[in-house]
Amino acid sequence: MVLPVYVYGHPLLRKVSEEIDQNYEGLNELIQNMKETMHATDGIGIAAPQVGKSIRLIYIDVDVLAEKFPELKDKRMVLINPVLTVDETSPTVTREEGCLSVPDVHENVTRHSRIHLNWFDENWQEHDEDIEGYLARVVQHEYDHLEGKLFIDHISPIRKQLNRRKLNNIATGKTQFDYRTVVYKQSKR
Ligand code: NI
Repeated sequence: MVLPVYVYGHPLLRKVSEEIDQNYEGLNELIQNMKETMHATDGIGIAAPQVGKSIRLIYIDVDVLAEKFPELKDKRMVLINPVLTVDETSPTVTREEGCLSVPDVHENVTRHSRIHLNWFDENWQEHDEDIEGYLARVVQHEYDHLEGKLFIDHISPIRKQLNRRKLNNIATGKTQFDYRTVVYKQSKR
């Protein structure tokens, strides 16, 4: 089932998410719904807060980028309770990012190119890996969602100012989306 996406301005996107355990009710169904929602919205990653669940769960599918980044072929990951450490010694790379919760806004974000990640997959198998390149960027973007952060928090005040009207329109429900959304504050018309 495709779920509505919580968009910029909703306070749930600003909460620090909670870890879950194996007894979390409806986990498999939620993962399936997140996959369907992400594909229906042409995303490459989705974090549970974006569908209104304040838990530490991420789904990533970057296979669609394999033409540009061959190492991403068939790369699909469910991340449960991920613990991310940025390798501060790795080079930084600046690239454009966007977000299902902040549609129509695309801005350059500078991030480190290597991270260390520990997580559980959907079968509760533990993984511990160094991740580099574009995937490291996607993981950092999605991980930010679990910490109550958005990619626009990384851009300069001037760039944010230039997007002010777009952001206000999203937050007040004036933006037209081609997918279902949850807007916190309805605009007065
Ligand atoms: Ni996002």
